[in-house]
Amino acid sequence: MSPLHVTRTLPEDATDAALRADVLHGLTITPKWLPPKWFYDARGSELFERITELPEYYPTRAEREILATRSGEIAAASGARTLVELGSGSSEKTRYLIEAFPSLAAYVPVDVSESALTQAGKALVAEHPRLDVHALIADFTAPLALPETPGPRLVAFLGGTIGNLLPAERAGFLASVRSLLAPGDGLLLGTDLVKDEEVLVRAYDDAAGVTAAFNKNVLAVIDRELGADFDPDTFDHVAVWDAEREWIEMRLRSRTAQTVKVPALDLAVDFAAGEELRTEVSAKFRKEGVTGELAAAGLELTHWWTDARGRFALSLSVAR
Ligand code: AVJ
Repeated sequence: MSPLHVTRTLPEDATDAALRADVLHGLTITPKWLPPKWFYDARGSELFERITELPEYYPTRAEREILATRSGEIAAASGARTLVELGSGSSEKTRYLIEAFPSLAAYVPVDVSESALTQAGKALVAEHPRLDVHALIADFTAPLALPETPGPRLVAFLGGTIGNLLPAERAGFLASVRSLLAPGDGLLLGTDLVKDEEVLVRAYDDAAGVTAAFNKNVLAVIDRELGADFDPDTFDHVAVWDAEREWIEMRLRSRTAQTVKVPALDLAVDFAAGEELRTEVSAKFRKEGVTGELAAAGLELTHWWTDARGRFALSLSVAR
């Protein structure tokens, strides 16, 4: 059985420094803003798993439908011998891909969570004894160095997570993905699509309140990590569709005028009654927009697959 390789490029204390910088910046600008990556501590990751099972939250099921029905076509079109997955998490959806690639030599899952990587990596090595699994503990929004594995390579970025980046961040991200690729290598990108406002808002404001708890969890993270005294019960969960920018915004709205202390940053933050803190942008896409953003990064869209109801897309593009 081939071994599981694990490489760490993320310093152990990088997360703490980045959280402090983001919270200091985000709570002292107007309007206030916290980046969505801080949702995902153990409880946040568990709440996200519950979101993916909600009747209102369709993207996970729609993407899984595409992978389950199209993995053979994806594998044939890409011909990759190395599959790199950014933000791999539990690598659950990736199994469809790994099993569809007849000549896959290496799988390179990249994630900030060491525990998710080693757990998923061990299972994959046991199931696919000839597959070289090379896990990278890294922040995929920072420059990456990939291991020397056979080409062509396919980089997969699934789940619609690219929608959490603002347009300028997306351009930078796609350019840095392109810089990892040789001509002929590919990118498999998951994007949620523009659709009815009611369907979108319900997906981010479910009846059971799981998304509300997920949104408020970022306050619990700051309380625990930075000694803050946010009371999550004094904020309301808000999900709004921005029709012009074609993205969902999640916000936390302060019910009352209050001051929150963040001792680790020596900071006191005033909230007016009704003031909103933006916690996530989740952009929705159209085929023309995806094609254009990829082209601007030197990637040519060659395939576009959607679920039967046209809610979510996987695109395959090739580096030129
Ligand atoms: C994991 C980033 C794809 O934007 O839909 C789910 C996160 N936020 N419900 C998304 C999320 C609120 C999700 N992504």
